[in-house]
Amino acid sequence: MKPARRAEAGRARVALFLIVGGLLAGLLVLYTLRSRPPHLPVDADHEQAFDPDRCLSCHGPGQRRPRGPKHPLNDQCFSCHDRG
Ligand code: HEC
Ligand code: HEC
Repeated sequence: MKPARRAEAGRARVALFLIVGGLLAGLLVLYTLRSRPPHLPVDADHEQAFDPDRCLSCHGPGQRRPRGPKHPLNDQCFSCHDRG
């Protein structure tokens, strides 16, 4: 390959790298924003619920409103969910 052609190919590779890298970074940001834990609703059910045992009496498996199957396996509710 002539030096000029090689420089051109190098630039194309850099451009491709930047485009692919930028897309991946963007996807990561989108994913992070979309999987933000929702706040607790402001309602009677949540006003006086403070400890995880209490939360799980409604949100545990088989209860009134179980957490979804993709919910993180972690029962320290308040390390992720803020009050509304
Ligand atoms: C008496 C039952 C009950 C208790 C106790 C309870 N919840 Fe809930 N929770 C519900 C119900 C029903 C919903 C869905 C209806 C709604 O959005 O108000 C809900 C919804 C939620 C949501 C989803 C909000 C959204 O925008 O999707 C979160 C997060 C949540 N609860 C967290 C908690 C945490 C953390 C606790 C313990 C501090 C807790 N809940 C205690 C019944 C309960
Ligand atoms: C490691 C962080 C984390 C912890 C700890 C956590 N959650 Fe969540 N929770 C999330 C995220 C992220 C979502 C949104 C994604 C989803 O819907 O699965 C969510 C969604 C929810 C929802 C609404 C969606 C659904 O699946 O019904 C409820 C209700 C909920 N969490 C309850 C709880 C309760 C109760 C606890 C404690 C026993 C708890 N969470 C602990 C991160 C967490």
